[in-house]
Amino acid sequence: MTQFQQLDQYLDEHRQNHLEQLFELLRIPSISADSTKKADLDRAAEWVAGRLSLAGLKTELIPGNGPSLVYAETLPVPGKPVVLVYGHYDVQPVDPLELWKSPPFEPVLKDGNIVARGSTDDKGQMLTHVLSVLAWHACGQKLPLQIKFLIEGEEENGSEVLEAKLPEIAKQLACDVIVISDSSQYAKGQPAITYGLRGLAYFELRVHGPKADLHSGSFGGAVTNPGLALARILTEIKTPDGRIQLPGFYDCVVPLDASERAMWDGLGFSDEKFAESLGVDALTGEEGFSTLERRWARPTFDVHGLLGGYQGEGGKTVIPSWTGAKISFRLVPDQDPKTVAEQLRSFLASHTPPGVRVELIDLHGGRGVVVNPNSKFMKGAVEAVTDGFGVKPVLIREGGSIPIVAQMVDALGCDVLLIGWGLDDDGAHSPNEKFCLEDFYRGIRASSRLWHYLAQ
Ligand code: BES
Ligand code: MN
Ligand code: MN
Repeated sequence: MTQFQQLDQYLDEHRQNHLEQLFELLRIPSISADSTKKADLDRAAEWVAGRLSLAGLKTELIPGNGPSLVYAETLPVPGKPVVLVYGHYDVQPVDPLELWKSPPFEPVLKDGNIVARGSTDDKGQMLTHVLSVLAWHACGQKLPLQIKFLIEGEEENGSEVLEAKLPEIAKQLACDVIVISDSSQYAKGQPAITYGLRGLAYFELRVHGPKADLHSGSFGGAVTNPGLALARILTEIKTPDGRIQLPGFYDCVVPLDASERAMWDGLGFSDEKFAESLGVDALTGEEGFSTLERRWARPTFDVHGLLGGYQGEGGKTVIPSWTGAKISFRLVPDQDPKTVAEQLRSFLASHTPPGVRVELIDLHGGRGVVVNPNSKFMKGAVEAVTDGFGVKPVLIREGGSIPIVAQMVDALGCDVLLIGWGLDDDGAHSPNEKFCLEDFYRGIRASSRLWHYLAQ
């Protein structure tokens, strides 16, 4: 039997076992944004570390001011590249809980999908690499290159521990390429390698008005309403034609080059089907750009939540003392979140109506990721994905962000491979998050091949 046949046989025989392992991890409610879940984050970290030491890796938990980092490594292989697998064991909050058809931390199989919070983002995807290394170990095969794992516990909440530890552990993490499966395929049946992610600058904006809530009959008309002031500011940040009004905002935005545009035109994207899949009757965005360009290569501004004022049953006639909004900018390569924060501050200084005061809280963010599509690792990744999925991957960019990656690339001076096994309709961050069962298995298979091809 060849090496690949032996691995395939092992993977075939362990399908059920691999699913059970994923279910175990999915049962741990490791929500990084929830301060009551510290013990669960610890349990998830220990669970991942336990698997990696079973696979024969030297494993440790790196503690910090937040969820521990899981670090593990195989033995060095002189003359061969070093790979660092990055992923995250934390998940997003589950609300609105009432919209889940089965409890978020009781994974079930439904219509060929694994349904649970974290199934696609990122426990299921991350685990494919852990299980493939376990398979090599169990088959008694010597890995052709050194693999390091860094699995963190607060990607969904700002990666503060990793950011703080990065200078200290950079030597330990030294590698030639970071491998990440925390993104998506282009479509069902069409795997992809992602060569760009957007950056992010996330804020909470608060508008403070009168010192207490006021009766809107007695006082309405005579003071600035913080709700209206907030609405005005938000709509002034981005105009209806999709242009962001912060001075200097577009200075560093790199235009898409013609070859990329041509490549994306070849993907056969359908606006109509996309709109239908989202349940909207029109797509909107920055004028003069296609939907894929708007999602992958243009910056944008969004509101995630509105705070303050009366939100209970029935009516309450009140001028709220304050209101707020969770807002973010998605950024494209070369835009810096710190610069955007300054631009936003100066915009607010000149766009705050009299009678209210604004407060801007910087939450988190990071620069976008650009992958060199001609790196020496790209070829191996294409071969591994083709083997695992039976279809050659297309090259895409995506609109989501993994904010810490740009910093890791700077600190380590390495390449990145973004090979995601998810699908756009997996419902990441949403109720009833799912991960296609067969994609879980295909991902493990692709990963098992990756180590071989990257060593070539
Ligand atoms: N896995 C996603 C990033 C992602 C999403 C990549 C879609 C490619 C396509 C990651 O877990 C994530 O959700 N990141 C957050 C950033 C964060 C600071 C909460 C995001 O993109 O909003
Ligand atoms: Mn993720
Ligand atoms: Mn996420």
